[in-house]
Amino acid sequence: MMDFDLSPEQDAIRKLANEFADREIAPGARERDRGEIFPHEILKKMAPIGLLGGPIPEQYGGMGVDYISHAIITEAIGRADSSVRTTLSVQISLVELTILKFGTEEQKRAWLPRLCKGEIIACFGLTEPEVGSDATKLRATAKRDGEGWVIRGRKTWISNGSVSKLALVFANADPDKGYKGITAFLIDRERSPYGSAAIHGKLGLRSSDSSELILDDVRVPDSARLGEVGEGFKIAMAGLDSGRYSVAAGAVGQAQAAIDASITYSTQRKAFGKPIAGHQLVQELIADMVVETEAARLLVWRAGHLKNKGVPSTRETSIAKLYASEIAQRACDGAIQVHGGYGFSDEFPVERYWRDARVNRLYEGTTQIQKLIIGRFATGIDAIG
Ligand code: CAA
Repeated sequence: MMDFDLSPEQDAIRKLANEFADREIAPGARERDRGEIFPHEILKKMAPIGLLGGPIPEQYGGMGVDYISHAIITEAIGRADSSVRTTLSVQISLVELTILKFGTEEQKRAWLPRLCKGEIIACFGLTEPEVGSDATKLRATAKRDGEGWVIRGRKTWISNGSVSKLALVFANADPDKGYKGITAFLIDRERSPYGSAAIHGKLGLRSSDSSELILDDVRVPDSARLGEVGEGFKIAMAGLDSGRYSVAAGAVGQAQAAIDASITYSTQRKAFGKPIAGHQLVQELIADMVVETEAARLLVWRAGHLKNKGVPSTRETSIAKLYASEIAQRACDGAIQVHGGYGFSDEFPVERYWRDARVNRLYEGTTQIQKLIIGRFATGIDAIG
């Protein structure tokens, strides 16, 4: 049986998240983008109403919402500002949910309430200067040192890296074993300081923080290890199953923002004696955006339905992530077309949407990596390695 209705709880969350996004996030997005200003103030307001810990159970400080609600919140934030949504995706989906799944009781109690309260921001350190798509080949190392470990390496394009107080870092504890040596660590920046360097001059997501992580012999106790030695690659992939879901939901939000802006503009702007929305080719642009956005939303919710059931959803998550990322870019491009010359200036938000949408096709696994994952499921043939 299929049910496309939202439950009263999901509908209430949709209203809460959308009202918050419209009131607190959207109005300052242009200034934050212009000034590359990280949204600390917004995060402080999101935490008390539960938006930094949506799917985390209440006993660990979250709201305990289901995965469709999680997507609804993420879409609402993504509709207002993708930079804020990126911070949220890393905090909740890549870090909190990964600790929830693989952490010891002690690790969950130590970190989750603080993350949900926004007391600390976290980052996910997988990508390296010379290792992106082929994550099995990462070069950072973790060497045993008495009771603890010494971690050495460089990570790059790490969202939240400079503002983080906690880094979930993947390093190889036994390079002879290849990816089966990769091990995950929760590095507490206060106790085990690591360096960072912010990356500037980005095309989009200018108010989010993207940084290099500098791990020069960072000493951590064995209690910082997340999961077993050698289990790190699977932990990273499971984390990305959550992260990609969040990116997909955020991309649907961007596409919806492009539609909303296009409708507002095209029903007010006149050309050839009538609102431009009355011209067939403008309606075609908007209709294409509407169809693709609604299809993407359903793909996200289908993946969420599987996550709610606790069954594997890698395939469905990759499909949703790929499709939502691609259509968000098209929708934002279409929105610029609807706006004409005005769409080329930051007087209107659509140029920012377009710049911000570009990264969805790159981070948390490029569109090409999603195709290889989907193709492998379809054919049974591994074209990756
Ligand atoms: N969940 C759990 N385990 C998984 C898994 C998943 N989704 N996917 C794979 N695994 C397991 C496999 O079962 C396998 O286990 P065994 O050794 O027991 O057989 C192991 O992991 C190796 O998996 P694969 O054979 O699939 O590895 P591969 O090399 O063929 O493919 C890949 C891996 C899919 C290409 C992967 O490297 C990948 O996803 N690359 C993209 C990396 C990426 O997304 N980076 C984004 C960085 S994070 C980011 O962007 C954060 C930010 O700050 C914005």
